[in-house]
Amino acid sequence: MPKKNFFSYIQKKYDTDYIFFDTFMEEALYSQFGFFNTDLVRSAKKGDFLTSPEVSIYFGKILRNWINTSCNLNKIVEIGSGTGSLIEQIGIKEITAIELSSTAREELINKGIMTHTNVNELTLEKSELVFGNEILDNIPCSIGIYRDKVWYEKVVAIQENSFSYDIKPIRNEELDWINKNDIVPNEDHELEIQVNIDKFLNTVIKKISPKNILLFDYGYEQANREKRKYSSLLRTYKNHHLSVDPIEDPGNIDITYDVNFSSLSRELKTLGYDVTLKLQRNFLLENGFDIIFDELQEKYLVADGMEKLKINSELNGLKAIVDSNGLGGFYCLNAQKL
Ligand SMILES: C[S@@+](CC[C@H](N)C(=O)[O-])C[C@H]1O[C@@H](n2cnc3c(N)ncnc32)[C@H](O)[C@@H]1O
Repeated sequence: MPKKNFFSYIQKKYDTDYIFFDTFMEEALYSQFGFFNTDLVRSAKKGDFLTSPEVSIYFGKILRNWINTSCNLNKIVEIGSGTGSLIEQIGIKEITAIELSSTAREELINKGIMTHTNVNELTLEKSELVFGNEILDNIPCSIGIYRDKVWYEKVVAIQENSFSYDIKPIRNEELDWINKNDIVPNEDHELEIQVNIDKFLNTVIKKISPKNILLFDYGYEQANREKRKYSSLLRTYKNHHLSVDPIEDPGNIDITYDVNFSSLSRELKTLGYDVTLKLQRNFLLENGFDIIFDELQEKYLVADGMEKLKINSELNGLKAIVDSNGLGGFYCLNAQKL
């Protein structure tokens, strides 16, 4: 049963029988009752999930190595900064954060990080680099359903006291996305449609034409979709665990999905970028992981007491961000303007 205030907020705001899933996800994550706008920053130990910069301070330090060799150090923008840990680790004061969550913005501002809600608020006209970790999977998706050779959309029906699911004719933009990505229909799968990721990236590129884009996230390549056993790649998290169906506890759970990196690459190529896709693990190994790991291990051998415990925990964090079965198996997409 959804929280009463979220439910009546939706009922009042929409005054319709149903809303599309991306609208529901937008409200459940970013409205005044949304998951990202309540009392805690969610991407932290005390929150609901841990990201690479929250697991290891060396994620940002390795990213800094890459920045040093790949771009100028000014005019850098981070999208979806969360607590701002990554900016702190990179150690470039002038990085601007774009963050939709008011709770996270408060923390960023307290840390002295330049912060905006939306990329359109920037006065910057051209940027050197736009980067983001685990933002795309939180950009609301729509859901496609294929039945008897026809595409539909899964929608959230607003009943008297609760939400339920229904199926409605698909919208044109969603159908165009399916067609331009050559999605092969499968009646056993739900399809997470990423129209809003494309729109978001188009807005960023139009506003600050980044020379470089670097994005980390969990996801898959289209050719491998059939190998995934799940019929849906959408899921929810609460208190560091998988949680209930999105309509059961909106506002209190994270709603997220695996990003289709083939679609993302295609869109960025269309926008004039050369795109390289690799695993996060390989990105880290190519940018100084081993040097940091070996130095820490040497320090560990001669340390004792609290210092030894601290180094051990840092080594565990490093292992976690390259682990192919975990964070290391995430994708890292680099797009460079041609
Ligand atoms: C999973 S958290 C990741 C936070 C941080 N990057 C990290 O790695 O810890 C996703 C963040 O992206 C933010 N976000 C989602 N959509 C956004 C958008 N369109 N513009 C700015 N921030 C957004 C959310 O508010 C949230 O703080």
